[in-house]
Amino acid sequence: MSLSLQRQIGTTSSFRIPQVLTEARVGGRCGEILGLPFFVPFYFNSLLSFWFDQGFLLLWNIKPYNPDMKFFIDTANLKEIQEAYELGVLDGVTTNPSLMAKEGITGKDNIMRHYKAICDIVDGDVSAEVVSVDLAGMIREGEELVEIDDKIVVKIPMTKEGVKALKYFSGKGIRTNCTLIFSAGQALLAAKAGATYVSPFVGRLDDISTDGIALIEQILTIYRNYGFETQVLAASIRHTMHVIQCAEVGADVMTGPLSVMEALLKHPLTDSGLEKFLADYAKGNS
Ligand code: G3P
Repeated sequence: MSLSLQRQIGTTSSFRIPQVLTEARVGGRCGEILGLPFFVPFYFNSLLSFWFDQGFLLLWNIKPYNPDMKFFIDTANLKEIQEAYELGVLDGVTTNPSLMAKEGITGKDNIMRHYKAICDIVDGDVSAEVVSVDLAGMIREGEELVEIDDKIVVKIPMTKEGVKALKYFSGKGIRTNCTLIFSAGQALLAAKAGATYVSPFVGRLDDISTDGIALIEQILTIYRNYGFETQVLAASIRHTMHVIQCAEVGADVMTGPLSVMEALLKHPLTDSGLEKFLADYAKGNS
């Protein structure tokens, strides 16, 4: 088979088709030979469970979508985590050494206890970051962190040692979040090493006049091209437009402060509309 023909043939089984066959799944190979599309299914899960190949979706101009966009809160503040949890839309928590220090959490025992307290609040993944920079230290810390709770995801920085640690943890079935991602190349490397999540820092890129959302989109394209299962966790989210733009390009997860989640629900017309509804009700029911 020629190289160019091979390139036209895609494999994956990772996207659902909206409206058409929402619950349907089929895995297979598809592409184009001599201008004619083809699709060969690998398997059928059940009549209501088909997955279609990304190439098939592209051929038919059907856009793939994620079943859900996850909302993580980016803080180590227990009160804020509790508030976000009570809002009912929280899927997880991300922390980092700066956020832990901001809450005055110092010393290994206190840090471990604090992670446990976070895990006790949320139903979902809790990223806990290693502070070692050498492979042996990252492995030791990561293995201790996952002992705290099943919800712990080991957060590893994007360094040479970090990539080796990602590979090690992926081989052990331990979930990881590769942090401090600022380029598509770093994200590709992290995915190849088996990271569960990558965290591109949208706000910090915007801070230096680089388009953070464009990076999210670029990483998503690369992951979809090859069917990487690594999830794109848009981090350093600073305001509501970041969230909306992440949703538009299809980020798997966004992590931001409570203030951003609360800002999403605000609109002056909602406030004035409600005021009028209540005033009208009061007129007739006082
Ligand atoms: O998760 C990473 C995030 O905490 C960084 O956010 O606002 O410090 O750039 P920021």
